[in-house]
Amino acid sequence: MALFAGHSYTYSIMRYLVTGGAGFIGSALCHRLAAEGRKVVVLDDFSTGDPERLAAIRAAVTLIEGDIRDRAAVDRAMRGVGTVFHEAALPSVARSVEDPLASNDVNVSGTLTVLESARRAGVRRLVYAASSSAYGDTPALPKREDMKPSPRSPYAIGKLAGEHYAEAYFRLFGLETVSLRYFNVFGPRQDPRSHYAAVIPRFITAALAGAPATIYGDGLQSRDFTFVDNVVDANLRAAEASGAPGHVFNIACGRRYTLLDLLAMIAAALGRDAPVPPVHEPDRPGDVRHSLADIAAARAALGYEPAIDMQEGIRRTVDWYRQAAAR
Ligand SMILES: NC(=O)c1ccc[n+]([C@@H]2O[C@H](COP(=O)([O-])OP(=O)(O)OC[C@H]3O[C@@H](n4cnc5c(N)ncnc54)[C@H](O)[C@@H]3O)[C@@H](O)[C@H]2O)c1
Repeated sequence: MALFAGHSYTYSIMRYLVTGGAGFIGSALCHRLAAEGRKVVVLDDFSTGDPERLAAIRAAVTLIEGDIRDRAAVDRAMRGVGTVFHEAALPSVARSVEDPLASNDVNVSGTLTVLESARRAGVRRLVYAASSSAYGDTPALPKREDMKPSPRSPYAIGKLAGEHYAEAYFRLFGLETVSLRYFNVFGPRQDPRSHYAAVIPRFITAALAGAPATIYGDGLQSRDFTFVDNVVDANLRAAEASGAPGHVFNIACGRRYTLLDLLAMIAAALGRDAPVPPVHEPDRPGDVRHSLADIAAARAALGYEPAIDMQEGIRRTVDWYRQAAAR
């Protein structure tokens, strides 16, 4: 039938699989896909994720509870899928330092299981959630994709291994893979409660409670923070861009802020003159001192632009946590 013959049309009627779709970034992707009327399957074991994040789009999502290391579960989720967004992982550098085997098992073996299932199912494209931690603590800034990686933690090594596997699956088997190295993502639905919570949700919840934020180190370490909607946009672009397969792209804002800057920005978003003075704890092993991305490659190949800047992202995030606290 002519209607189904066009390559892009065929895939556009197929499903999108989001592994880790109950997580912070995966659920943001699901919300966007559902808003666009796409058929979405989520595979998640809810280890760090929460199905509540999908409650508002529950009718549009097929939710499969399962582990990405379980071949049968992954194969089941992969049926009829044209595009995979592989977000599932055990995140956190600190967690991986405490339990390197678990981190490696999920982030490396799990990723390989997803790639292998995608290949066998004839999936067209897989977009992989890679990490800026691959760059390590080398002094040269901004980080460009052609720099030698220097991962410093089991988490960083595992995420980098996933990139290599993804590229190998493109070269060996023609599965179109694209790796996106996210830089410190933040936004609504990020978990502030976990022992391994990222810095922005921790700082915002402390500020809302009028409590001091805990800073590991002097607070002058800096990060290129990325609002989650920009990451979602990059994923959708990476799923379609013709020159992207086989490549790795930095996904960031292209500016860096210190943790002390961040506290001041959050206070400003809350209408306060100054933040509550933070409590300083010793540096955490494996953490990098500074990070800043060069996003020229993503701009050129994906047409990516960080449409939401840091101030606007912080404002939206603070609003979301304020409303969540009031619910
Ligand atoms: N948040 C960031 O700043 C950041 C930066 C770089 C890369 N990443 C990557 O982005 C992805 C999403 O991160 P996030 O911040 O949304 O984390 P998250 O913990 O909120 O989401 C991860 C999801 O994967 C699920 N999961 C974990 N192990 C699983 C398993 N064995 N089988 C099935 N599901 C499993 C969790 O339940 C969770 O829903 C991860 O791959 C992470 O490494 C995140």
